[in-house]
Amino acid sequence: MAIMPRLLHSQSSFYKPHRLATSMSGRSLSTGQERVDKSSKIEEAETVKVTPPLTDKLLVLGGNGFVGSHICKEALNCGLTVSSLSRSGRSTIPDSWANDVVWHQGDLLSPDSLRDALNGVTSVISCVGGFGSNSHMYRINGIANMNAIGAAAEQGVKRFVYISAADFGLVNYLLKGYYEGKRATETELMNKFPYKGVVLRPGFIQGTRLVGSIKIPLSVIGAPLEMVLQYLKPLTRIPLIGPLFISPVNVTAVAKVAVNAATDPAFPPGVVDVDGILQYSRQKAA
Ligand SMILES: NC(=O)c1ccc[n+]([C@@H]2O[C@H](COP(=O)([O-])OP(=O)(O)OC[C@H]3O[C@@H](n4cnc5c(N)ncnc54)[C@H](OP(=O)(O)O)[C@@H]3O)[C@@H](O)[C@H]2O)c1
Repeated sequence: MAIMPRLLHSQSSFYKPHRLATSMSGRSLSTGQERVDKSSKIEEAETVKVTPPLTDKLLVLGGNGFVGSHICKEALNCGLTVSSLSRSGRSTIPDSWANDVVWHQGDLLSPDSLRDALNGVTSVISCVGGFGSNSHMYRINGIANMNAIGAAAEQGVKRFVYISAADFGLVNYLLKGYYEGKRATETELMNKFPYKGVVLRPGFIQGTRLVGSIKIPLSVIGAPLEMVLQYLKPLTRIPLIGPLFISPVNVTAVAKVAVNAATDPAFPPGVVDVDGILQYSRQKAA
């Protein structure tokens, strides 16, 4: 059972999806950094217990990866029926919760291999992404995910959440294919799921990453950085290098926001940035 704050005012409070503007061609996504005045927007709040409907069936694309596995675990804790699709299929994760996930094998670059896995699914969260040459990064972060969005829309999936990435100034230029792929997917998501599509844009994600059978504690560096950088927010406004000071977020926080965005009908569509993810997960933990 999830405990979450319900805000009684229609405008979002601790985060606000960035305004989405479609260009004449209908393909571009405006991501103006809108700041939210929390004090003026949150006038009244109450804590309610929300149990996701038992019929919710969640498909996590890339559920055997670092972020995807934490999302699967969080979703199972919330009582959802959880499946995952990736090229390697069944995860090597040794933890017992992994036995409760239905593991599908498929490749988003061959969308036909997705169809069976999408059967009866109400929500999708995509954690598929990666690095390599610019063309590979565009294919995996862009085309693969756009295929998934198209297939999910065709099969009547209700909500779709995409794990994208925060802008990193100069780094965007060096990883052109990665960011062009991410932004193209975001645009496609807003076209196909204008009212039920959510984009999460974390910066560096810290937590424990499983590589083979070895657990790598990224939080040894990430957690102190997250604490420090939250107090150095003005640095993020320095031209070009400022985004390098964006705070890391814990993988558990990303998982909580993603699962909620995929299941709560009141979760507003649009982009949730790093601050939004941090504030949202803190609010949930309180
Ligand atoms: N980790 C971070 O610090 C960070 C920060 C910001 C944003 N992100 C974004 O968050 C997402 C998840 O990151 P992560 O660190 O969890 O990555 P990851 O551990 O590499 O997981 C990627 C997942 O995608 C699957 N996959 C890759 N290509 C696929 C394809 N063609 N078809 C189906 N599945 C495919 C992989 O499984 P198989 O290899 O078995 O297919 C794996 O499960 C990515 O989009 C990443 O860009 C991550």
